[in-house]
Amino acid sequence: MRILIIDDEDSMRHMLSVILKREGYEPVSVAEAAKALDLLEADDFDFILCDIKMPGLDGLSFLKALKDRGLARTVIMMSAYGTFETALECMKLGAYDYISKPFKADEIVLTVKKAEEREKLKRENTRLKADALEEYDFTNIFTIDGNMLSILGLVRKVADYTTSVLILGESGTGKELVARAIHYGGQRAQKPFVTVNCGAIPGALLESELFGHVKGAFTDAHRTKTGLFQEANGGTIFLDEVGELPMELQVKLLRVLQEGEIRKVGDTKSAKVDARVVAATIKDLKDEIRKGAFREDLYYRLNVIEIKLPTLRERPFDIPGLAARFVEKYSRKFGKPPKRVSEEALAILAGYAWPGNIRELENVIERAMILEETDTIRPKSLPIAGPNAGGRASLQAADALESQLSSATPRRPSDDLSIKRAQEAMEKDLIKRALERTRNNKTKAAEILEISHRALLYKIKNYGL
Ligand SMILES: Nc1ncnc2c1ncn2[C@@H]1O[C@H](COP(=O)(O)OP(=O)(O)OP(=O)(O)O)[C@@H](O)[C@H]1O
Ligand SMILES: [Mg+2]
Repeated sequence: MRILIIDDEDSMRHMLSVILKREGYEPVSVAEAAKALDLLEADDFDFILCDIKMPGLDGLSFLKALKDRGLARTVIMMSAYGTFETALECMKLGAYDYISKPFKADEIVLTVKKAEEREKLKRENTRLKADALEEYDFTNIFTIDGNMLSILGLVRKVADYTTSVLILGESGTGKELVARAIHYGGQRAQKPFVTVNCGAIPGALLESELFGHVKGAFTDAHRTKTGLFQEANGGTIFLDEVGELPMELQVKLLRVLQEGEIRKVGDTKSAKVDARVVAATIKDLKDEIRKGAFREDLYYRLNVIEIKLPTLRERPFDIPGLAARFVEKYSRKFGKPPKRVSEEALAILAGYAWPGNIRELENVIERAMILEETDTIRPKSLPIAGPNAGGRASLQAADALESQLSSATPRRPSDDLSIKRAQEAMEKDLIKRALERTRNNKTKAAEILEISHRALLYKIKNYGL
C-alpha cells in the first residue's frame, strides 16, 4: 500500500519512511501540504499521514482542501501540540485517526495497520455491493416465457414499495432469486438483505435469531444479541420456508408486522423496526391453514402481493436458454471455454420432468461442464435419461455416472426416504467441501454456499464439523 507522508521536519519524514518501508509499505514523502495536494491530483495513494503544524498550508486546511477537491482519503493526523480539541477538529473534518508526537515506532505501525484494515474492508464492501447488485439484477433472471415475463413485470413493480410479498413455488423455481431481485431492484438496494431459513433453525432458537435477546434471557444468553429483524432495519428480511414457522412464532411475527415493533426475548421494551418482509414457501399455505398449521391472519399479512413461480415443466421453452446461461456461468467460474449443447442432449433436457426445477438444471449443467472433456455436451454427459434416449442402457449409464459423481459421499441406504436425513447429509457434505475449497475461510465458504455467515456457523456447530 502506498502512503503519502506530509511533514515539514526532515528527520520525521525520514524516520517514518524507514519504519513504514520495513513494514512493507511504499512511503512517499513531501515537506509541504500544497505539494501533497498536487501529488494527490496526479497520483493515487492508499492513505496519508499528515502533520498538523506546518508553515504554509497547515494540517487542518489540508483536510479541508482535500474535501473541497473531492479527494476523499484515509488520513491519519500527527501533532506534537496534541490537544483533545485539535484531535476532535481533525476527526470532524474527516480524518480517520489522530496520533500525538512523539510516538514509538510500533505505535505508528499499529495505527497504520488499523487504517490498512479499514481500507481493505471498505474496498471489499464496495466490491461486494457491486457484485450483489450485478448478481441480483433483474437481467439475471432469464425467461422468454410469457407467464414468467408478466410475473417479472409484477416483481419490478413491487420492488419500489415496502409491501409484504409472498413468493410461492416448488423447490428450485427461483424464489430466492426473485426475493433478491425485489430487494436489489428497489430503493432499499444499498441497505441489508437478510435471509432467514425458518425451516433450518430449531424453533426455540429461531425466536432469538429473529428478534434478538437480552443478557440473561436464558441460560446461554451471556450477552445481549441483536436479532435479524434489526439487522435488516431499513432493508429487507427474507423469511424463507415461512411455512415451517412454529405456531408460537407465527403469533409473534404477526405482531411485529402489525405494530412495526420487535421485542427481544427477555426484554420488557419494544423497539421500532423497519424491515420489508419478503417470505417464500414451497408449501400450500391455504392447505396448511385448513389443517390448522398456519395462521390465517398471518397469511393475509404476508400475502399482500403473491407471486407464484411456475415450475420448469410449465415453461419448457426456457430450458435451452437457461442451459446456455449456466454453460456460460460455469465456464466463467471454472475458467474453461464454454461448450455447445448437442441437439440430442437438448432433446433430453427438454423431455425431462425436472422435479428440482431450475436448480436441478443448473446442477446438471455444472456436472457436465466438469465431466465432459470435449467441447460439446452430449447425452452421455447428462446424468438423466430422456423419454426416448435409449431406455435401460442409458439409464444404467446415467446411474453409473451418478454413483461416480456421488462417490465422495457414501450412499445412504436406499430404503431411507427421510427428506430430513437426506438434506442433512447433503448439507454436511456441501459445507465440508466449501470449507475445504476455501481452506476454512468461513466467510468465503458461506458465500459459495449462498447462506449467511451466521447460518454457516450454526450448521458447523450443529453438525459437529
Ligand atoms: N430464471 C432464472 N434465470 C437464471 N437462473 C435462475 C432462474 N431461476 C432460478 N435460477 C437459479 O436456480 C437456482 C435456484 O434458485 P433459487 O435458489 O432462487 O430457488 P428456490 O425457489 O429458492 O429453491 P428452494 O425452494 O429449493 O429454496 C439458483 O442458482 C438461481 O440462480
Ligand atoms: Mg430457496
